[in-house]
Amino acid sequence: MNGQFISFEGPDGAGKTTVLKEMVAYFEKEISGELVVTREPGGNPISEAIRKLILDPQNTMMDRRTEALLYAAARRQHLVEKVIPALQRNAVVFCDRYVDSSVAYQGAGREIGTDDVYKMNLFATEGILPNLTIYLDVPSEVGLKRIMNHRKNEINRLDLEKLDFHKRVREAYLALARQYPDRIKVINANQEEKVVQHDVRILLEEQLHSRLRG
Ligand SMILES: Nc1ncnc2c1ncn2[C@@H]1O[C@H](COP(=O)(O)OP(=O)(O)O)[C@@H](O)[C@H]1O
Ligand SMILES: [Mg+2]
Repeated sequence: MNGQFISFEGPDGAGKTTVLKEMVAYFEKEISGELVVTREPGGNPISEAIRKLILDPQNTMMDRRTEALLYAAARRQHLVEKVIPALQRNAVVFCDRYVDSSVAYQGAGREIGTDDVYKMNLFATEGILPNLTIYLDVPSEVGLKRIMNHRKNEINRLDLEKLDFHKRVREAYLALARQYPDRIKVINANQEEKVVQHDVRILLEEQLHSRLRG
């Protein structure tokens, strides 16, 4: 596979969707060849069905490990149907969340264990990891505030419980970045949008150097 696989990671509210949109607009014009933008479940019926099962509020009985296995199953199908073919066509693939999300959310957030979730995901993906992972780091309070912005009210008790969860998620992301410094690059996402975009663009230009138009 000759393509470039790049994932975007970070907690909710870190700014992944915002920065991805800008980077797509920019790099569509700057690189030669195909750019594929995707996120799990990515429109394939099997992954969609699995995600529906995970997110169905009726499934209050769902065990944490069941949930982690289902996320990994949906990930594999998306990988096989969409990402691998794109990489085989020599495309650049931007993916909103991948393996590290499960490590952070299921492994640390839901406290199943980050090492086990990582290993299980390596099985699911046959070890296919991104060439580059851009991790958008924000303090948990900042991420939560951004996603609750439209509500305008102060943080309540339930949100504070959520804060613990989000802090575990962030710590796990930071630990992954320390463990895999060649793959995962940390961006300070607690900056103005323009500054975040600039920092992400520099990383992408470096990674996609050989594909940039003259
Ligand atoms: N650097 C930034 N500073 C302030 N607000 C931001 C920044 N980046 C994104 N936002 C806002 O935060 C909210 C969540 O951003 P979004 O891109 O959807 O995050 P994610 O996809 O990581 O959950 C949106 O309302 C967005 O406009
Ligand atoms: Mg998003």
